[in-house]
Order: sequence, then C-alpha cells, then structure tokens
Amino acid sequence: MKKKYFRPVVAVMLAILLVVGLAACGAGGGGNQADDGGRIGVSMPTRSLQRWNQDGENLQRLLEEAGFEVDLQFGGENEVPVQVAQIENMIASGVDVLIIAAIDGDSLTEVLATAEEAGIPVIAYDRLIMNTTAVTYYATFDNFLVGEMQGRFIEEALDLPNQPGPFYIEFFTGDPGDNNINFFFPGAMSILQQYLDDGTLVALSGQTDILQVATPGWSTEAAQARMENLISMNNYSPTGQQLHAVMCSNDSTAQGVTNALVNAGFTADNMPIITGQDCDIISVRNMVAGLQAMSVFKDTRTLAANVVEMVIAIMEGNEPPINDRENYDNGTGIIPTFLSVPVVGTIENYRELLIDSGYYTEDQIYS
Ligand code: BGC
Repeated sequence: MKKKYFRPVVAVMLAILLVVGLAACGAGGGGNQADDGGRIGVSMPTRSLQRWNQDGENLQRLLEEAGFEVDLQFGGENEVPVQVAQIENMIASGVDVLIIAAIDGDSLTEVLATAEEAGIPVIAYDRLIMNTTAVTYYATFDNFLVGEMQGRFIEEALDLPNQPGPFYIEFFTGDPGDNNINFFFPGAMSILQQYLDDGTLVALSGQTDILQVATPGWSTEAAQARMENLISMNNYSPTGQQLHAVMCSNDSTAQGVTNALVNAGFTADNMPIITGQDCDIISVRNMVAGLQAMSVFKDTRTLAANVVEMVIAIMEGNEPPINDRENYDNGTGIIPTFLSVPVVGTIENYRELLIDSGYYTEDQIYS
C-alpha cells in the first residue's frame, strides 16, 4: 500500500520544491534567498519583559517554519547602543529583511540609513520607527484602541456618565521614547478627559500630562516608586483619602502600581481599578487575585504571523496585506501599516482568551 502512494507523493513534493525554487529565484530584494530561503534579522528591545521574549520566539518559529534563517537579537536591558550595534551587524551580514521593535523610536535614523543604502526592507514591529525613510512597513495592534479600551473600562466601572463623583484617579503611561504612548495615552484620554474637565474625575497629583505620567523604560520599579510617592503625597489609603482608579498603559507599569498599593495596605476588597495591557502572566495572576481589573490582550502569535506574511510578500516581490494608510506617519510620511485588533481581558473571560486558546497553560497561571 505504502509504495503505491510513494511515487505520486514524491512527484508532488518535487513539483512543490521546483515551484518554490523558481519563485525564490524570481523574487526581488536580496540575492541569496534562492539557495537558503533568505535570512531575516529580528531585533527585539529587551529580554526583561515577558512579551518581547514571546514575540521573539514566535517570530523565530514562524519564520523558520516558512523556510527562512533567523538572526534574533535582544537589545540588552533596553539599551539603545546595543540595539544599534546588533542592527549594524545584521546589515553587515547581509540579511534580506529587518524586523525591528525599537527601544527608542528616534534613535535608529543613522543605522537604518545604511540599511536603506543596502536595499534592505525594514518592518517596524509593534513600535513605529521615527524620522527615517528606511521603514517599508509597520505591523502593530490598534494602539489608540488599546488606550480607548482602558479609558472605557474605567468609565463603565465607575459609571462616570451617571455618577457625580468626584472619583480619584492617577495616570501612568510608558517610555517617552516609545511612539506607542502617543496612541495609548491619547486613546485613554479620549474617553477620560471630559470627566477630568467637569470634575467627575480628579487627579490629586495634578499629573495628567503625557510626559508627567511617563515611565522610563516601562519599568515596574519606576512605576512603583512613582506610585509610592503619589501615595505619600496625597495620603491615599484604604481608610483615608480614597483612590478609585489608576489608568496604567500596560502591565509592567500596572504591576509596579499594584505593588505600591498592596504595600500601602490595599487589598482585593478595596483595590482601585487598575488597567493594563499585554496579559502578562503576573498581571493575569493579579487579575485572578482581584488586584488588577483588566488588561488588553494583544495576541503576539497574531502579530508575528502578520509579520511573517509581510516578509513572504516582500521576498516574493508582492504587496503585503495593509489595512491602514492614514494614521501612522513617522515624520517622513505615512507608513503602510497592518493593524491587528486588541481584546479586553478580565476575570470574566481570561480563561477562554488565554488558556483555552493555548496562549498559556493552566500551570503558568496557577503554579
Ligand atoms: C508595547 C506594549 C508593551 C510596552 C512595554 C509597547 O510598545 O506595545 O505591548 O507593554 O511596549 O514593553
């Protein structure tokens, strides 16, 4: 029986190999993909946050499955000179495409000029790279919508349209060099600003400006230190000055805020509404423990798959799927973008979203 099927299967496989081989020969861009499927440089910002490890691993796996060789590097602990040196090396080694999640969106202009001269297409991954004509495409989640979801969650949880307040709130966003905060924070403020204006929401610190509430390196420790300051300056406590919500742009900042509040005596029974983003394992555990109210889930598997599709299209000389040609201007013009859709994660749906979908195992959340 086996033999009967053997020949047709081999013939089909040979035919596929021939077609793939011919397609690779005909592809534009770098010259060596006919032999080896092409080499892709992947530059991630840091290993210190869970999501970038996942992004890097997903990209590597999917690119290798698609037949590419992968040079995956992490920029130390968010160290710009390390990332620049790694990208320089990738360019010098002749990669066919660069995929970059920038540590600082403004610090790659020079190194990417070299990529452009060498004709290497650049995909900005998750974070837009600013002020360079070298960026070919951008793939990310709808970052404004992420912020809107956080703002909307607070609006609904406190019933802001119907309650007079005042409700007390503080704000935390991310690194000032990450262009994404220019979408996350205004997205949240597009919902919440009206309530600050009419006094329904009050930030006792008076810190509601994006740069006042930024967190260098998206660091948990920096967020914790700032929250500790806000607690002592404003006497926030479960029995004293109330604090109803803390709008955090992501989970690493939310975790710092949660630590500070827990240390100040807050518990699941009186914890302010804390928002987040990424559904990091620690934050999911905090949601289960009643210490963080929500997170925005951005399935890194989807983002990686979209980017691999982009790479394949580039290597085959085709136009990749693009669904936004309006919103992402990097200072040199609009960058054609593919936006994926984020989803709100809460205690109600985290199982379905994260465990049933295979994103995490049960053990990762409960061990
Ligand atoms: C990403 C977030 C992440 C943050 C910190 C942002 O650019 O979009 O998902 O939480 O960086 O790493």
